[in-house]
Amino acid sequence: MCGIVGYVGDRNAVPVLLQGLKKLEYRGYDSAGVAVYSETDGEVVVCKAKGRVENLENKLYDHPVKGRLGIGHTRWATHGVPSDVNAHPHFSSSGEVAVVHNGIIENYMEIKEILQSKGYEFVSETDTETVAQLIEYYYNDCGDITDAVFRALEKIDGSYALGIICRDFPDRMIAAKKNGPLIVGLGEGENFIASDMTAILKYTRNTYVLEDDEVAVIYKDDVKIFNLDRQEISKEVYVVNWSIEAAEKSGYDHFMLKEIFEQPKVVSDNLNHRFKADGTGVYLDGIKLDREVLKSINKIYVVACGTAYYAGLVGKFLIEKIVRIPVNSDVASEFRYKDPLIDENTLVLAISQSGETADTLEAVRLAKRRGAKVLAIVNVVGSTIAREAGDVLYTMAGPEISVASTKAFSAQVTAMFLLTLHIAMESGRMSLEEFREIKHEMELLPSHINAILSQAPIVKRFMEKYIDSKNVFYIGRGLDYIVCREGSLKLKEIAYLHSEPYAAGELKHGPIALIEPSTLVIGVATQQELFTKTLSNIKEVKARGARVLMIAMEGSTETKEFADDYIFIPRTHPILTPLLANIPQQLFAYYMAVGLGNDVDKPRNLAKSVTVE
Ligand code: AGP
Repeated sequence: MCGIVGYVGDRNAVPVLLQGLKKLEYRGYDSAGVAVYSETDGEVVVCKAKGRVENLENKLYDHPVKGRLGIGHTRWATHGVPSDVNAHPHFSSSGEVAVVHNGIIENYMEIKEILQSKGYEFVSETDTETVAQLIEYYYNDCGDITDAVFRALEKIDGSYALGIICRDFPDRMIAAKKNGPLIVGLGEGENFIASDMTAILKYTRNTYVLEDDEVAVIYKDDVKIFNLDRQEISKEVYVVNWSIEAAEKSGYDHFMLKEIFEQPKVVSDNLNHRFKADGTGVYLDGIKLDREVLKSINKIYVVACGTAYYAGLVGKFLIEKIVRIPVNSDVASEFRYKDPLIDENTLVLAISQSGETADTLEAVRLAKRRGAKVLAIVNVVGSTIAREAGDVLYTMAGPEISVASTKAFSAQVTAMFLLTLHIAMESGRMSLEEFREIKHEMELLPSHINAILSQAPIVKRFMEKYIDSKNVFYIGRGLDYIVCREGSLKLKEIAYLHSEPYAAGELKHGPIALIEPSTLVIGVATQQELFTKTLSNIKEVKARGARVLMIAMEGSTETKEFADDYIFIPRTHPILTPLLANIPQQLFAYYMAVGLGNDVDKPRNLAKSVTVE
């Protein structure tokens, strides 16, 4: 939601903070700011700017600040419009305490009113300013910043990752976490805090991943971690294995394009070592989902948000079709409030790239409270969902920076294939022959994706032809319909185009009224047994003047005959097509967004990980 970075050491903190904020900009980009302790002034100096980190950088160029302790923030507004004054860091009234915050303080109005009655004046509309003021209030009473932070945390309800510095304690920063990601980066003679690893990867790979209700006091040569009872605790150092290149654009115009082109490797990494050497099944990182456990499960539930949810729907479709276990599905924001029918005989699959999405996390917690078995399918190692779920299957897509999820979806779908095969084999629902056939086809997927990616210039030409579209329909049946939902989401998200995904057979029950000459309809028709049905729906929209772009299986002569334009995907096993059919959609959304002049990697109003409700 927002990005936090902090530094204490011997370097000038400002460039470290700015570089970190640029890496974190995908988390929020409506304003940014830094607070740095200036030794010359003996003050904490704040610089903030509405808009991108670049604006902040320009401001700092005109009004340079220097210091060896600082905190920075890039914001995605929750309380108060994006503006210089609402940007973080926030100061306490006397300028003693500066705070950056990711999350929502739910009882901030109550605290604000109490502080106002004691004479504190507030300048912003944010919940975060209340935290700075509350810490100062306790600091004035006790004279110790760490004590003041603990006392403030006792009063705060809500979610937070906090970075705090204090004018009287220029040798340290304090970090606290509850329901928002925060790590402490461990350097030599310098230490860091960050919302995620990408911000500090240039300096260190050694981290402490803070858990909820932990407070870290960070000096340049030492880090002390406490629980909320103020007892010091010891933590294991987690060493991150990402390369710096993984978090760079590496010559691509956008992270999204780079991530689209990384998909052959991502799929291949997810398949490596996942098939048992004797060819009789799937190995899932020691996850306990064997015959005995499966016997106790009578229902599976898929919960996730956005793109991750659509990956989950692929899993639902396949498990029901092949294993014949009922699979329910809900977006996590509905699941958590609907009193879902789950118990100890339910397996909940929680899917999340970031592992920090607030709704999915709460769904996991609810499922656990009800005794369900929870398997998280997560990309970010050590994230909250990964830590809280009973079991975790990592998707190994590497860092996904672009807000629009692409390679993480492919990794999640691959995980769904593997999970389906695993459950099918363990429960005796699939013959060895069929398993081996699918396994063989899965191993060809990376080269099939490469073949589709080589058609990127063709997709770019489609963009030039269809750039004037105002409404786009995506239609398909079965697995193709799920692919349509993901394709439509991507187009909305980055091209800002209105689009509707529809089950092709449902179109005639109302939405066909919206089809008019020149409406673009993207038809996905990769399922042989449904092809003629989908084709007849395509003929219906063509008859009403629509322009039709089809995604179909290689060599389909009818596609050539009826579509205005088409892109073929290589032939594969019918259950595997979602992975392939989605790639041209990603490219189409990408080129449309570029063609329309949009900021592809940081689309308006969105943030990469949604850590608030
Ligand atoms: C995808 O392009 C979106 N940015 C969004 O729908 C995303 O998939 C969703 O917010 C879930 O995020 P997660 O996978 O990190 O939980």
